[in-house]
Amino acid sequence: MAHDPMEWIRDDLKNARGYSVLHAPEGTIKLDAMENPFGLPDSVRKRLAEEMSELSLNRYPDAQAKDLRDAASGIFGVPSGRLFFGNGSDEILLNLFLATKGTIVTPEPTFSMYRIIAKSVERKFRGFPLNPDYSFDPDSLSTVLSGEKPGILVLASPNNPTGVAYPMEKMLQAAKIARQFGFVTLLDEAYYPFHGETSLNAPGAEDVLVLRTFSKMGLAGLRLGFLVAPEELVSLLDVLRLPYNMDSMTQRAAVILLKEVYPLLEKQVQEIRRLREELYSGMASIDGISPVASRANFILFRVRGISPSDLFLKLFHKGVLVRDVSDHHPLLEGTLRVTVGTEEENRIFLNALREGVARDT
Ligand SMILES: Cc1ncc(COP(=O)(O)O)c(C=O)c1O
Repeated sequence: MAHDPMEWIRDDLKNARGYSVLHAPEGTIKLDAMENPFGLPDSVRKRLAEEMSELSLNRYPDAQAKDLRDAASGIFGVPSGRLFFGNGSDEILLNLFLATKGTIVTPEPTFSMYRIIAKSVERKFRGFPLNPDYSFDPDSLSTVLSGEKPGILVLASPNNPTGVAYPMEKMLQAAKIARQFGFVTLLDEAYYPFHGETSLNAPGAEDVLVLRTFSKMGLAGLRLGFLVAPEELVSLLDVLRLPYNMDSMTQRAAVILLKEVYPLLEKQVQEIRRLREELYSGMASIDGISPVASRANFILFRVRGISPSDLFLKLFHKGVLVRDVSDHHPLLEGTLRVTVGTEEENRIFLNALREGVARDT
């Protein structure tokens, strides 16, 4: 008799929810995933295509990603031995959570993958609430950490899905408290480009782990993230890392982009920051919509007079895809999240939003 596959599956996974991604039909204005809306110019695409055609895809990639390591080390001003690369920063979180022990602690609401990855590797996860205005108070940390086995304190700043950035002194204070309880602090700076303040090389943050991704500034399709950590930790993580996690195409494309295209991506980021402020003002002027001031490339907003799921559907039927995060955490009740798009996309979104919340007369 055939085996029932459910017999072999871990019990805790049987009813678990993974990270859900909605399929966006062709032509949808996609404002759900914090992507850069601009894309790369034709000249860069052509250059990348030429580079790709020269790769020997019959060979395994460079397991150490040396060229990429050197290019990133130059751009980010970090010794190359302190860089650990991953297939998106998600993969780095997976390796880090696999390699370490103790509890993963983070203020919530935040990036849902911290919880999902912690659970997937059977690590204890402890979320504790941010303040109702989504600010973070390090004073509340001692009580939380004192009851947990020393592990990792994770802080995302700017945070997802709130868009709120925590002041650097608060994060350093949090890292200090974490240290006292034997925890290491991981600062996730996925949205750093849209904020501009980093803990990389900051005094008082020498032992803090810093996570970055190339996704948000314009290269989500490449799947590339990196961790800046002490060299000993990078070597330990290398033990768990699958040998060829960075494929040849990603490595080559990233080197070209870092060496030749980085200033263009930075320009696009500046434009997205400008568009974010314009979008915020547009949203704030709509009755029934309360946007949260953001330092990232998206805006969380609370809706009144209509349920977020109904508004989500109304926007979807008008061809605009946003993210309904209202059931992700009690503090997110009544909220949706929209990514900053192009000027035209934002205009269409604002019109759809205005119509979506208007009372039928
Ligand atoms: C705070 C934060 N960290 C990490 C990631 C993952 O980025 P990626 O796996 O694309 O590098 C995201 C994606 O939404 C995020 O919001």
